[in-house]
Amino acid sequence: MKPRSFILAPLAGVLSVVNGLTLDLQSQASVNSISSTIAYDMMTYYSGNQTGQVPGILPGPCASTACYYWWEAGAMFGSLINYWQYTGDDSYNSVVSQALQFQVGPDQNYNPPNQSKNMGVDDQAFWAFSVLDAAEANFPEAGGDAPSWVALAQAVFNFQKELWDDATCGGGMRWQVYSFNAGYNLKNTISNGGNFQLAARLAYYTGNQTYADWAVQMYDWMAGTPLFSTQNGHLYIWDNTDTDNNCSDVAHFAWTYNYGTMLMGAAYMYNYTGGNATWEARVEQILDGAYNLFFPSEYGGNIMSEFQCEPASNCNNDQSSFKAYLSRWMAVTAILVPSTYDSIMAKLSASAAAAAQQCTGGTNGRMCGRRWYASWDGTSGVGQQMQALSVIGATTINAAIAPKTASTGGTSKSDPNAGSDANTSPTTTPSAITTGDRAGAGVLTVLAIFLVIGGSIWMIV
Ligand SMILES: *[C@@H]1O[C@H](CO)[C@@H](O)[C@H](O)[C@H]1NC(C)=O
Ligand SMILES: *[C@@H]1O[C@H](CO)[C@@H](O)[C@H](O)[C@H]1NC(C)=O
Ligand SMILES: *[C@@H]1O[C@H](CO)[C@@H](O)[C@H](O)[C@H]1NC(C)=O
Ligand SMILES: *[C@@H]1O[C@H](CO)[C@@H](O)[C@H](O)[C@H]1NC(C)=O
Ligand SMILES: *[C@@H]1O[C@H](CO)[C@@H](O)[C@H](O)[C@H]1NC(C)=O
Ligand SMILES: *[C@@H]1O[C@H](CO)[C@@H](O)[C@H](O)[C@H]1NC(C)=O
Repeated sequence: MKPRSFILAPLAGVLSVVNGLTLDLQSQASVNSISSTIAYDMMTYYSGNQTGQVPGILPGPCASTACYYWWEAGAMFGSLINYWQYTGDDSYNSVVSQALQFQVGPDQNYNPPNQSKNMGVDDQAFWAFSVLDAAEANFPEAGGDAPSWVALAQAVFNFQKELWDDATCGGGMRWQVYSFNAGYNLKNTISNGGNFQLAARLAYYTGNQTYADWAVQMYDWMAGTPLFSTQNGHLYIWDNTDTDNNCSDVAHFAWTYNYGTMLMGAAYMYNYTGGNATWEARVEQILDGAYNLFFPSEYGGNIMSEFQCEPASNCNNDQSSFKAYLSRWMAVTAILVPSTYDSIMAKLSASAAAAAQQCTGGTNGRMCGRRWYASWDGTSGVGQQMQALSVIGATTINAAIAPKTASTGGTSKSDPNAGSDANTSPTTTPSAITTGDRAGAGVLTVLAIFLVIGGSIWMIV
């Protein structure tokens, strides 16, 4: 167990009840115990480590609602690396290591044949985030011939840098890697912002300026498109823009993870540059934008809400996990950009307390729902568990678990050429698409149309 390195003075006395257990944010033992319960319940959805099952994937394929896309499994393993760091509990480390290595694919760049025909830049990025979490935490390497954690992230970078597309919109990357996929026309924030975060974290870990230059190029491109806009003094980061009209308009949807990935990348760039004022201003702008939208004053102003789908209770399984990423990425920002620490911790602590108090659902009486600002909302799933786990753990972030770099004790071995001889053709051709996959692609198509129609009619302000 790690000693607590800070006291949440303004929140002294904040207690939350989880099925009769009390979460006391002042007590590491209490955080550990509640986190352990939530992680256990999250892992009841995972059977990939059992005989005859496929390591690294959650129940699917996604023709029904009781399924999870490949990317969310990748994200879940990252949340368990964070869990280990926050609590010292290594119960899941071997399961996580097995899963992260099993899904690397033949080119060791997270484009495995079972997934490649649906591959999005964002899907791959989430697996890269998890191996970066591993590298930055000195999570035990798999050993033997297995690629190092940081080399896996470098291989994803080497794959994605070939996807830069100047032919439309002056640059950026398309959401989908392959042109036969619905959504290939879109350039979206989580893909481009995911690649931005990946480059910034590789610059920070390896010290290699090439990655930093890439991150600058990506940020500058995004900031010059309608994905970024300022209204009433607040930064808005919208979801996607369309190559079919050369990115001249934008879908007006705002999601926590889009702000989170831009925040995380900017925080790493600030720290990597030794405190560049431009990056600090960007961190502050993105944080202000997130505070403005995702911490509604009607719930006290400090409780995170995915406001676009929680009130109407129509979040899908992807969206039900997004607050996990903003929580984790705000916590890391608080460490890398010390001036943000106080405001971030106030929001994470209130959100953690709120998240814990609504974990009272399901047959075991302690499953978490999505609405942290209310009592249990009747929903449960991997995302709901991951969100609560991530925000509660995030309140324990401290300098001792700051992301390591190769020059501050990180031992994962860099390989700048990892995966670089991979080609970007899908390993499975479209002609092999099955009925089940077509249903999956249909979901994507409906989503894409919905976003664009929604984008033209839906405005926040
Ligand atoms: C699979 O992992 C779970 C923890 O999530 C553990 O309880 C179980 O024993 C593991 N099963 C096998 C076969 O390793
Ligand atoms: C790909 O799918 C096949 C069939 O389900 C399975 O046997 C194999 O282990 C999967 N590979 C990966 C990397 O998921
Ligand atoms: C598309 O947008 C880019 C970036 O704004 C611009 O440089 C380019 O001229 C535009 N192309 C067309 C055909 O309008
Ligand atoms: C970078 O992050 C470290 C924490 O690992 C922190 O001590 C340091 O002050 C940060 N650098 C700057 C310039 O703020
Ligand atoms: C800080 O970063 C910005 C954005 O990349 C760059 O334009 C500027 O030159 C940097 N400032 C210094 C002093 O290096
Ligand atoms: C830095 O990264 C670039 C891009 O991957 C690579 O070509 C170069 O060899 C790396 N430099 C060092 C010193 O590792």
